[in-house]
Amino acid sequence: MTAEPVIEVRDLRKWYPLRSGFLASLLGRQQGQLKAVDGVSFALRPGEVLGLAGESGCGKSTTGMTVLQLHRPTGGEILFQGHDVATRGDARSMKAFRRQAQIVFQNPYESLNPRFTVAQSVREPIAIHFREEAGARRDRLLLAMERAGLMPVENYLDRYPHQLSGGQLQRIAIARAISVEPRFLVADEPVSMLDVSIRAGILNLLRRFAGTLDMAILYISHDLSTMRHVCSQVAIMYLGRIVEIGPAASVLRDPQHPYAQALMAAVPVMGVRRRKRIQLSGAVPNAADVPRGCRFHPRCPQAMASCREVEPQLKDLGQGRRVACHLH
Ligand SMILES: Nc1ncnc2c1ncn2[C@@H]1O[C@H](COP(=O)(O)OP(=O)(O)O)[C@@H](O)[C@H]1O
Ligand code: SF4
Ligand SMILES: [Mg+2]
Repeated sequence: MTAEPVIEVRDLRKWYPLRSGFLASLLGRQQGQLKAVDGVSFALRPGEVLGLAGESGCGKSTTGMTVLQLHRPTGGEILFQGHDVATRGDARSMKAFRRQAQIVFQNPYESLNPRFTVAQSVREPIAIHFREEAGARRDRLLLAMERAGLMPVENYLDRYPHQLSGGQLQRIAIARAISVEPRFLVADEPVSMLDVSIRAGILNLLRRFAGTLDMAILYISHDLSTMRHVCSQVAIMYLGRIVEIGPAASVLRDPQHPYAQALMAAVPVMGVRRRKRIQLSGAVPNAADVPRGCRFHPRCPQAMASCREVEPQLKDLGQGRRVACHLH
């Protein structure tokens, strides 16, 4: 029997109103919208890691923040363990969600309070979410640090952020996030600011949390080369939408969407003969001015007449794979 999704997102949208000029607002002209996230859907079950990839500016971080309700969605549904949290209606579900859905950010230097010791930083969320005696809280603190690979724990407890390396700080940020036993974790570019030599160790933690703690994880990265090792599924995002999604191994080995193919062709993979390089011309277009039809058509080497008119929807290709492209 397949477990129920921990988190399910349906047609999620996050549009930012564009500031119009004074005269335009005086004349009552309609403001434009920047469609950062424009109809994203996915579901994650316990133990699954979804890699969300795509060029900078395509809406990955906005997706993560909006799913966590750190930004208010413009539309769509967010179901956490079957309960709607997008409307922030049911107080009990929201309380559970606030504890059980956590995030790790890209920059560990910014996510920790420089005046807090490591122990104070990790203890803070525990104190907010658990009404327990001091001994039980301390056990949670120690367990979270152990799980984040900060051993021996005693060496870290009384230290301050400026005394630690970027990798150690990111592990502390991770310990903070997992200290409250989340069911769902968003990791937004968790290793892109870290030294290449320590990235694998941090990514291994994510894999372990999914495998042994049954967490569902949304792993956001512009770097596809890290996904094979960590993810069970991969989603490729372009200009606010998922254009391809499916099991990590098959999407990465044999991408079907022309944009996914172009991204993959640029990734060096050991032992795999390089695909013919598909050039992506131009930069990611502006999310405030999304092209008509297929939003990728101005850059697509295979664009046809219909691509300029009709927006392709995700189509089921079987074996869990879905692609939004008129070629399929
Ligand atoms: N708070 C905001 N207000 C207005 N536009 C935003 C805001 N945050 C992000 N954007 C815009 O939304 C788009 C997606 O950004 P983001 O989610 O950060 O992309 P990514 O994480 O994939 O690099 C970009 O065009 C960005 O400029
Ligand atoms: S729908 Fe057309 S423009 Fe869009 S990716 Fe497919 S072939 Fe290219
Ligand atoms: Mg981002």
